[in-house]
Amino acid sequence: MTELKVTPLTWNFGVEVSGLPLADFVPSVRFEELRALFEEHSALLFRAQDFDDAAHLELARAFGPIEDRKADERKPGEEFTIPKVTNVQSDSSLKGDMDMHRLHLESNFLWHADSTFLPTPALTNILTARVVASNGGETELASTRAAWMAMPEELRTRIRDRGIWHHYSVSRAKISPELAKHPMFHKWPATRWRAIWTNPVNGREALYIASHAYRVDGYDEAESAELLDELMEFCTRPEFTYSHQWRVGDVLIWDQRAVLHRGRPWPDEQARTLSSICCSVTDSDGIATMRMPQ
Ligand code: OGA
Ligand code: MN
Repeated sequence: MTELKVTPLTWNFGVEVSGLPLADFVPSVRFEELRALFEEHSALLFRAQDFDDAAHLELARAFGPIEDRKADERKPGEEFTIPKVTNVQSDSSLKGDMDMHRLHLESNFLWHADSTFLPTPALTNILTARVVASNGGETELASTRAAWMAMPEELRTRIRDRGIWHHYSVSRAKISPELAKHPMFHKWPATRWRAIWTNPVNGREALYIASHAYRVDGYDEAESAELLDELMEFCTRPEFTYSHQWRVGDVLIWDQRAVLHRGRPWPDEQARTLSSICCSVTDSDGIATMRMPQ
């Protein structure tokens, strides 16, 4: 077994992991080590991996149930395929400027955690680069654990102990009112989560917000929007963020309970494709403590 080495990605969170090649990684043997790093550092980067779809699926299954947002749309016998974040259409031509898909991709440029609008949100996203642009197209992460620790008490008091409401259409409306009307963004009723997610393994607290958040208990719509903006701005200050410039073969894994992310634009005429698998949280990830009495 090669020796595992971790190198910090930033002062506050995230590590690059080497000595744990994902190609011959057998989750049943070494997953505990990887999971401990995930709980501790919130984001893990593996570079230059030989990481095919089968390895991607196997690693994801070790984290939790694989999220399948299209389960209800699939015909009988049609199998789950790994979601792609891409501007390339299935016929390989680049997607046009104004189409809905492009606007949907643009919503990823807003800071968010994945799936806060689902009845069961995501624990992690395992993202890997298949095709990269020559410049741009970074994925950026922001630690809401580090930000929460550093946040002035005055701001913490305004959000702590409150519930925050989320809906898929909210983030899409920020990009385009037309896009937000699409039925895909109205499949799930609004969710409400506690503002603070306490990690059940180490007790560390993190603010749980996203571009999908729109309402905070105890505040009206305008006050909620203002507070959420202020929190988002604080959490995404440079000292709490990491910007990842992709190379094919990179694998980036983060804890959605404690980290926000966003994509950055890249030149329109270039292809960029990431494969993304989200795993859902389970009871041991602390989801029960996030639900609030109605
Ligand atoms: C995602 C996502 C950002 C990017 O996969 O959930 O938001 O950089 N990706 O493409
Ligand atoms: Mn995302």
